[in-house]
Amino acid sequence: MLSRADQSTSRLSRGADWWRRAVVYQIYPRSFADSDADGIGDLPGITSRVDYLAALGVDAVWLSPFYPSALADGGYDVADYRDVDPRLGTLADFDAVVTALHGVGIRIVVDIVPNHTSNLHAWFQEALAAPPGSPARDRYIFRDGGGADGSEPPTDWQSMFGGSAWEQVADGQWYLHFFAIEQPDLNWENPEVREDFVRTLRFWADRGVDGFRIDVAHMLTKDLTEPLPSKAELDALPMDGSHPVIDRDDVHDIYAQWRTVFNEYDPPRSAVAEAWVERSRRPRYASAEGLGQAFNFDLLEADFDAAQFRHIVTDNLELAARSGSSTTWVLSNHDVVRHATRYGLPAPERTAAGHPTRKHGNEWLLSGGTSPVLDREAGTRRARAAALFVLGLPGSAYLYQGEELGLHEVAELSDADRQDPTFFRSPGADMGRDGCRVPLPWHASGASLGFGANGAHLPQPDWFAALAVEREEEDPDSMLSLYRRALELRDRLQSEELFEWVKTGVDDVLRFRRADGWEVVTNFGDRAFSMDLTDAVLTSSPGGPGELPAASTVWLHREPRD
Ligand code: GLC
Repeated sequence: MLSRADQSTSRLSRGADWWRRAVVYQIYPRSFADSDADGIGDLPGITSRVDYLAALGVDAVWLSPFYPSALADGGYDVADYRDVDPRLGTLADFDAVVTALHGVGIRIVVDIVPNHTSNLHAWFQEALAAPPGSPARDRYIFRDGGGADGSEPPTDWQSMFGGSAWEQVADGQWYLHFFAIEQPDLNWENPEVREDFVRTLRFWADRGVDGFRIDVAHMLTKDLTEPLPSKAELDALPMDGSHPVIDRDDVHDIYAQWRTVFNEYDPPRSAVAEAWVERSRRPRYASAEGLGQAFNFDLLEADFDAAQFRHIVTDNLELAARSGSSTTWVLSNHDVVRHATRYGLPAPERTAAGHPTRKHGNEWLLSGGTSPVLDREAGTRRARAAALFVLGLPGSAYLYQGEELGLHEVAELSDADRQDPTFFRSPGADMGRDGCRVPLPWHASGASLGFGANGAHLPQPDWFAALAVEREEEDPDSMLSLYRRALELRDRLQSEELFEWVKTGVDDVLRFRRADGWEVVTNFGDRAFSMDLTDAVLTSSPGGPGELPAASTVWLHREPRD
């Protein structure tokens, strides 16, 4: 048995491709731990909880943006890429996070948001003060308006958050923002923009950051040759690398340059692309000459369903192999309804291509969490099974803070408490993403349940107390205990990236084999499955002898004979 100190050294010494099989824990800093009682989580709060992360057994932590921001989009509106928001701490506090994490063998990944800045970024303020056609405006995408007098937006393009993608400024010009109004898109044709991001990457890599998560990685480059197409024309264009604004081939020139920067470090810095692109185009982002890894978000959209899971796994392992990368598995993140809740709601309707016709859980959120009725217990049970399924797969697993506690989505936020622009930009249609960003419950009682000494910036519901860390630590059957055991075992059992399906004879039961005698069996159905459990080492929901109960996963391990 390795001591904690040995474990941390052995983790960090895993070398250049540590990210291939890492368990990465996503922290949404404002909602993790609040050290100064202002209701907002901060960097010293993270440092104070490093022991928790070490006990959980994760390999790396990814921090969502902690940079200065007016929070028009939860921190993804960055006002200064090389500083810390004063409400969250200082650069010295950041260094302390790095030191503390590295001290227990955990690596750190930070979020880079290159598609847009905040409107409060010095560059945008400069652009507003400068005349049309000036170099300051050229760092962004400014255009004259349409219509006879320029009072119409240049095109009818829509922002991802609803409403026009153009906003007018005082002198009559318009700027492009594919996300919130406060998030002007940068002009990646401008060499200064390119240079500045390289500076930012070096700034954090020099401070000891091990890797980067690249926000909206598929939208940086744009071909805005006039005349600009209409929305209908834009939507009709093929996504083959030549589209004017999405997933253009030339975006990879940027990542090739970044790769040379990453490779200047020892070990090379890692990166993972958030790229919402056609599956066949994902390997480009994950190539060794580019970012190295790309998120696969397929499980965020999947039901707890054997056929869907099977297809997603086969498909993504093949795609990852095509780029020489490893794949990523994500059940939840800061942008979607938590998976324990999704799995407790009726399955959504799907398009012919298999995508949900609406954001899963949105209808339930719109009803304030009353309709359709959430089966919390079923959702939690399936979440346990899904976690063991995913943690048994080759590749890296990205966990979103709170899933290890089995947190459900919070539906009972009042409109006055909501912060997410997607709520405000689409009144009555989308409740936004605040329900998965409610601060974590550390204690079962007290101010903001141990999140801080005061309130929480998004109020926690009463039922959070039962899922508090201190409660779950004491309960061997809790979700937290399951995650801890799974991560510890995964660390020991995982060797080569070998994977093969094993026939079970039952459609609802999936079984796969990993190297060195490790097998994973998941029963997605609603009836127990008879099987030999002699080699069981971990079960998500134990049942009677010789049966794997409904909605559960078992890990089997047999020491290979010499
Ligand atoms: C990414 C982030 C999301 C953010 C958006 C705009 O999709 O995950 O939270 O709103 O980019 O930056």
